[in-house]
This record gives sequence, structure tokens and C-alpha cells, in this order.
Amino acid sequence: MSMTTQILGSKEVALSPPYIPGDGHGEALVGRDRECRTVLAAWLVQPGFVPMAPLLVGEPGVGKNRIVYELARITGRALYILQGHEDVTADDLACGVRFSDDPQRKMDYVLSPLATAMLTGGIAFLDEIGKLRARALAPLAPVLDDRRYLDSTLLGERIQAKPGFRLIAATNSVDLAAEALPDFARSRLRPVLRIGNPPRAEIGRIVEDRCRRLGSDGGGLMKAFWGLWDRHYGERLPSPRDTLYTFALAMSLADHEAGITEPGSMARPVKVHKRHVEQAFGQLFTPGGAQ
Ligand SMILES: Nc1ncnc2c1ncn2[C@@H]1O[C@H](COP(=O)(O)OP(=O)(O)O)[C@@H](O)[C@H]1O
Ligand SMILES: [Mg+2]
Repeated sequence: MSMTTQILGSKEVALSPPYIPGDGHGEALVGRDRECRTVLAAWLVQPGFVPMAPLLVGEPGVGKNRIVYELARITGRALYILQGHEDVTADDLACGVRFSDDPQRKMDYVLSPLATAMLTGGIAFLDEIGKLRARALAPLAPVLDDRRYLDSTLLGERIQAKPGFRLIAATNSVDLAAEALPDFARSRLRPVLRIGNPPRAEIGRIVEDRCRRLGSDGGGLMKAFWGLWDRHYGERLPSPRDTLYTFALAMSLADHEAGITEPGSMARPVKVHKRHVEQAFGQLFTPGGAQ
């Protein structure tokens, strides 16, 4: 992978690549106007203030990433995603090293997605921030207040954020409930937006947009899905991810039944029947399935 490099202080550093939303995210965002408006307002700068760093809180699959991709699209800024997990260290938040592909050198410095966003004026998305250990989060304090800088011990450099830099974080409700985030982070990550599952009509539109091949059969199949869902889970709502997985598996079951091994190998898509949705639902949600 060829990387863009930049001189920082006396060292040449490689930048993290931006994330460019591709397949499956090209479709329009369904709903979420209020959430997008709130974040865009929080990112505006008032004289004497720094832009805020909102925190999205919601169960897996509700659409947190999808909202962030939309925000990047609306603002036209490059998006850099840092995936939180327990092994991330305070140093990783700024910069890492890896063996170089260049025979002239042993190691390359690679700026983290956060540091790259700061240096280039992009958006940093700290996903699953609740999974980071408190110690690893410490360097975030100056990033999130009026100092807007990040220190890298490895580089021995301070990275000052460009004015265009914006930050947004996400965590799932369980991680937040466990008070996983230290107070300094909680008090700086504002506003907190609770993201729930979209209403049924919006879930229906998400499936319709993503599963175009269902065409006029889509409505009936969606109804079959709701029938199954109600029987097992009643009033609760499925997440967009749960629902999309069901339809993706139903389409694949239909293809497989028709002997298709390569997607797109048929001139016309194979018809998906109610039984495929039932089978997919059974696989994904009933005891023994993934739920
Ligand atoms: N409002 C929406 N409009 C269109 N697609 C959505 C929407 N919400 C979720 N999705 C789709 O549902 C799936 C799960 O969403 P994702 O953003 O990955 O959830 P999370 O980050 O909360 O786990 C993705 O395929 C995403 O594109
Ligand atoms: Mg996510």
C-alpha cells in the first residue's frame, strides 16, 4: 500500500489513509435529520470557543457509522477512523512504527487516523471509544479542549490541529453504562446523542434502497419479515443491520438454491420467496442463530 508522507518536525511520517465509504453506503441516508443537524451545529465554531466533539451512543447495528459517513459527505471533509479496542495504547493514538518497504530504511513512522485528521484538517471518528482503556485516552484531553494538540512521545513532536479538524466518537450503550469512559473524556465529549433503532417505515426504506433486486416483491417480503419479527420479539425493533443481514441471506439462499455460485452470473436476478426470508430469519434470530 503506497502511503502519503509528510514532514513533521525533522521526521518524515506516513499518513493514515482516509476512509472512503463504498459499496452499500452509496445509498441515501434514511432519516436521521435531527442527529445530523445536531452534530453539524456542534461543529460550528463560535468566537472564543472550540468546535464540540459529539458522542453517539447506541447498540451495535443502529446506524452510528452510517451517520458519520453522511456527515463527512455533507461537510466534504476526509474521514479518518480509529477503531477502539483494549490493546490501543496512549502512543498508538498519535503514531506507530512499522517495518519499511523502502530498502533504504528500517522503519516508517505512521501517524494514527486521529493525528492524520488533525494534521490535515479532516474528521477523526473514534469508533468504540468505550473499549479504550482510561490510560490510553489520556492524550485526548488536550485534543478535546481549547489546546487542540496531540503529543507523540514516539516522534517527540506536538501535533497542532488545523482549524478544519473535527472529532466525533461512538460507543455502544453497554460500554458507556459500565462507566468505561473516564470523567475527563465524558465531560469533553458533548453533546451526547442517543441513537435508537429507526422506526419501521425507515427500516423498510433502508432495505428497499439496499435490496433493489427485490423490486415489486420487496413489499410482501418485508411484510413477511415483520410477521416473523413480531412473533418472536413483539414491540421491540430490529436494528438496520439485523434486518439487512436477513434480506442479504434470503437473497443468497435463493441464489444458492438456483445453483448460482458467482454473484451476477445470471442475466436476471433469481426471485426471492417468502420461504427464503423465513429460512434466513430462522438462521439469524431463533435459538442457535446469532441473536
Ligand atoms: N439511516 C440509515 N440509512 C441507510 N442505511 C442505514 C441507516 N442506518 C443504518 N444503515 C445501514 O445499516 C447497517 C448498520 O449500520 P452501522 O452504521 O454500521 O451501525 P453501527 O455503527 O451503529 O453499528 C449498515 O449497512 C448501514 O449502512
Ligand atoms: Mg459501528
